[in-house]
Amino acid sequence: MAKYYSIAIDGPAGAGKSTIAKRLAKEMGFVYVDTGAIYRTVAYFLDLLGVSPKDVDGVERYIDELTIGIEYDEDGTQHMIMNGMDVSGEIRTQDIAQKASLVSAHAVVREVLLDMQRDVAKSHNVIMDGRDIGSVVLPDADVKIFLTADPEVRAKRRYDELIAKGQKAELGKILQEVKQRDHQDTHRPIAPLKMCRDSVKVDTSAMDIETVVTAIRNVVKEKTGL
Ligand code: DC
Repeated sequence: MAKYYSIAIDGPAGAGKSTIAKRLAKEMGFVYVDTGAIYRTVAYFLDLLGVSPKDVDGVERYIDELTIGIEYDEDGTQHMIMNGMDVSGEIRTQDIAQKASLVSAHAVVREVLLDMQRDVAKSHNVIMDGRDIGSVVLPDADVKIFLTADPEVRAKRRYDELIAKGQKAELGKILQEVKQRDHQDTHRPIAPLKMCRDSVKVDTSAMDIETVVTAIRNVVKEKTGL
C-alpha cells in the first residue's frame, strides 16, 4: 500500500495556520485541508435553519440533513459545498467563526466530521490544520506542529486584515472575540485545543510569514526527509 504523508498543524485562531499550511502544501504538492471550514459549514447550515449552536437537541435533529462536500480548484483552493451549494465565502465571517466554535463542542458534530477528515488523509498526502488534528484526527501524523501567538498579536493581525479589506474594525472587540474563542476551544470536554507531547511548538508572535514557513519546512524535512 502506498505511503501517504500527513502534517498536522494545530493552534488557536489567528496564529497563521491557514496561510502557512497553504504555502507549504503548494510547495510540497500536498492537499491542504482547512478543517475549521468544515465546522463553519455546519454552523452556517444550522444558522440558516435558525438552530442555536448551543441547542444540542436541535443540532442532533438537523445534522443528518446536511451533506458536506469538499472540492478543490486547480490552484488547490478548498471549496465547501453545503447540500450542493458552494458556501466558501458565506462561512468566512466573525459571526460564523464564533458559532462554529460553539457547534464544534457537540459530540455528534465531531463524530460526523471525524471520518470525513480521516478519509482525505487515507488517500492523499495532506497538510491539515485545525484544533485536534494531532491529538484526535491524525494521531499518527508524520509531523505535528503547534502554531501559536499572543492573543494581542493575533487580534492585531485580524484587525489589519479587515482594515486592508476596507471594512470597519475595533481592535478591543476583536481581542475580546479572540480570547472568548480561545477559552471555548480549549475548555470544551471533547477534543479541546491542546498541544500534543509530540508536537513542535512554533510561537509566531515575533515572526514574519517567511520565517515561519522556513522554520516549519525545516521541521518537516527533518522528520520526513521530504
Ligand atoms: O480555524 P477556524 O477559525 O476556521 O475554526 C472555526 C472553529 O471551528 C474553531 O473556533 C473551533 C472549531 N474547530 C474545531 O473544533 N476543530 C478543528 N479541527 C477545527 C476547527
